[in-house]
Amino acid sequence: MNPIRRMLVTGGCGFIGSMFIKLELEAHPDRHVVNLDKLTYAGNLENLASVASDPRYQFVRGDIADRDLVGKLIGEGGFDAVVNFAAESHVDRSLLDSGPFIQTNVIGTQVLLDASRQAKVSRYLQVSTDEVYGSLGPTGFFTEETPLAPNSPYSASKAAADLLVRAYCHSFDFPGIITRCSNNYGPYQFPEKLIPLFISNALADQPLPVYGTGLNVRDWIHVTDHCRGISAALRNGRGGEVYNFGGRQEKTNLEITHLLLQHLRKPASLIKHVTDRPGHDQRYAIDCTKAETQLAWKPEVPFEQGLRDTIDWYRQHAPWVQHIKSGDYLKYYSEQYGSRLSS
Ligand code: NAD
Ligand code: TYD
Repeated sequence: MNPIRRMLVTGGCGFIGSMFIKLELEAHPDRHVVNLDKLTYAGNLENLASVASDPRYQFVRGDIADRDLVGKLIGEGGFDAVVNFAAESHVDRSLLDSGPFIQTNVIGTQVLLDASRQAKVSRYLQVSTDEVYGSLGPTGFFTEETPLAPNSPYSASKAAADLLVRAYCHSFDFPGIITRCSNNYGPYQFPEKLIPLFISNALADQPLPVYGTGLNVRDWIHVTDHCRGISAALRNGRGGEVYNFGGRQEKTNLEITHLLLQHLRKPASLIKHVTDRPGHDQRYAIDCTKAETQLAWKPEVPFEQGLRDTIDWYRQHAPWVQHIKSGDYLKYYSEQYGSRLSS
């Protein structure tokens, strides 16, 4: 396999994509990265300020579902790899309106696959999620063989995209790899997801809206461990294969909430149990043995350390949070939490 010199990353202005770009540029002095991002509410150029003037980095503002733009970019780009992070990524928003999820996550992926196939790109990596497997009971783990059973419009759109990648590999011998990761946490995460939302609310002495009992379980992984996994899959992975990544760090939402409050020295009275998320998946837990044995990768950041560092990061980056928590964010917050928090 040819070494990767030029890489197209989509959705690189988001939480995980921006970390991936920064780590790739840091680790590979000869790497060039083009970042195609639509700059939705979740895309933030501030996340890439440290590489913005690096001559090896180029930003293109655009939509992965724009067939003309993507065809030209990939057709003329000379890319050795395409890595697709671009997505609508929040379950709660998909329950309010699934339209953008189908458009970006499904149609956008199809457009990227067609253009990559046409240009004979030698590696295509689809960044997917463990949520495509549905929900677990109190025991057991998701493996790469677990049947897909998505429960939210978000996870259904990600599963649809995964099935398209699978079909292109099967039908056209397309060099597609799918990675499915558990819940990420770390710096630069948009404060609509559990951990950054609760940190920023607690810092502002605002209530922490725990859905239902708070006993739902997620398997947390630090964003840098996920990014190292994607790198390993590009290096050592095989076309047509799926690789699961997880942190082996299962926690209930209430455990996370109490840990955050403890580190922040804030009172438990900030916790407010609110109406549950419709169709709320009970438990996610990943068996990542395949990635560990075949990709020479393992999760490394201990959860307590990673969480402490993440809290410190949010404490030190108040202006980053402030820029986000205005305008559209306030509208979303009121729609999602207004009646929940006032009842
Ligand atoms: P994010 O919401 O922080 O970022 C998404 C990025 O995609 C933004 O920069 C946004 O502007 C861009 N984007 C959205 N629609 C686009 C379009 N049509 N064209 C071009 N760009 C577009 O998401 P994230 O948390 O960084 O997640 C990245 C990927 O990882 C997603 O595919 C997500 O499904 C997957 N994933 C996330 C997690 C997690 O815990 N966050 C876990 C597993 C997998
Ligand atoms: P989230 O960060 O939205 O990730 P996902 O739904 O993709 O797992 O939510 C993580 C868990 O936290 C999930 O069980 C839902 C719960 N949650 C709350 O209890 N309150 C909230 O305000 C949010 C955003 C999430």
